[in-house]
Amino acid sequence: PGTRIIHAQDDDMKSAVREAAALLASGEIVAVPTETVYGLAADAFNAEAVAKVYEAKERPSFDPLIVHIASARQLEDVATIPAEVEPTLRKLMAAFWPGPLTFVLPKTDRIPDLVTSGHPTVAVRQSAHKVFRGIGKELGRPIAAPSANRFGRISPTSASAVMKELDGRIPLIVDAGACRDGLESTIIRVEPGEKRPEIHILRPGPVTKKELQNFGRVIVEKKRLIDAPEAPGQLASHYAPRTPLLMFDKPEDFQPEPGKRYGLLSYKEDPKAGYLKLHDWAVVEALSPGSGKLPEAAVRLFHVMRVLDEAGLDFIVAEPVSDTGLGQAIMDRLRRASTD
Ligand code: TXA
Ligand code: MG
Repeated sequence: PGTRIIHAQDDDMKSAVREAAALLASGEIVAVPTETVYGLAADAFNAEAVAKVYEAKERPSFDPLIVHIASARQLEDVATIPAEVEPTLRKLMAAFWPGPLTFVLPKTDRIPDLVTSGHPTVAVRQSAHKVFRGIGKELGRPIAAPSANRFGRISPTSASAVMKELDGRIPLIVDAGACRDGLESTIIRVEPGEKRPEIHILRPGPVTKKELQNFGRVIVEKKRLIDAPEAPGQLASHYAPRTPLLMFDKPEDFQPEPGKRYGLLSYKEDPKAGYLKLHDWAVVEALSPGSGKLPEAAVRLFHVMRVLDEAGLDFIVAEPVSDTGLGQAIMDRLRRASTD
């Protein structure tokens, strides 16, 4: 059975939203756009539908999904708000929702254990994407949606990338063009702390450490799920191309093997940059050609990784970007994609 793509821009939006919501209501799974990456959606209250998500992605059942709410009112159906951090949570939600910020909160009984992989907590966000919001409102129920890639592979930021990952495994892809942010949401857990509330970043993303610092003391966690050592954050390879990807602290550390084809994943393809002159690259792809802008680099990262992965290379060499602001999320994804 083939996978259909329908367009959801301008005049096509209403009918696409209705068709996607109807499929979800019938217990099917659908790939949908969000402002971060494309997600593979299921009715979050329907465990059988959620099981199809794990199956299509070949995702191990110990890796929990994110639940997306369509309105602030739906939050209480999904999660409870701990009283001791309620003021901080409310402020963060008011500042960043709808948007690319995900909260880990105690789950309600309505959320099936499969969604949270048996954890007592659930990851929740409200997407800002017009089409996604329309589908959520039409469905009238929260949507469980991980990124629409096969497990451990590059997240899709376009409908064609979803097609490459999941063709024949899902009935429908809703195409609304390229994603605005291009990186998965920032995931946080808020704790009371001693003097100020603590905001633990479990996954860096479009909402940066600096933006969160206005609301509490920010701690960047090495582990993503503290009580589950086998959780995805600790898996060596995540968001990975099939071609081995190498990263070096210093350009001098690069020692090419003779006869191998190397492609460079450059930040801005600056002719003065050390990396560009380092080797006779088979292919060079820049994240932010010429200008070196982090938001553009973030939007293009997974697309460029995919292009290089399809270029028949022996190795991809990634030039590091500055580890500040949005650069922290980009570096996180590059490190997780790298082979060492
Ligand atoms: O931007 C995004 O977050 C996208 C779009 C589709 O919303 N979704 C996404 O989902 O990136 P996924 O499944 O690829 O990543 C979800 C991450 C996983 O690494 C999972 O470990 C973590 O969220 N997660 C889910 N539930 C959690 C929980 N209860 N505690 C801690 N981490 C959790
Ligand atoms: Mg993912």
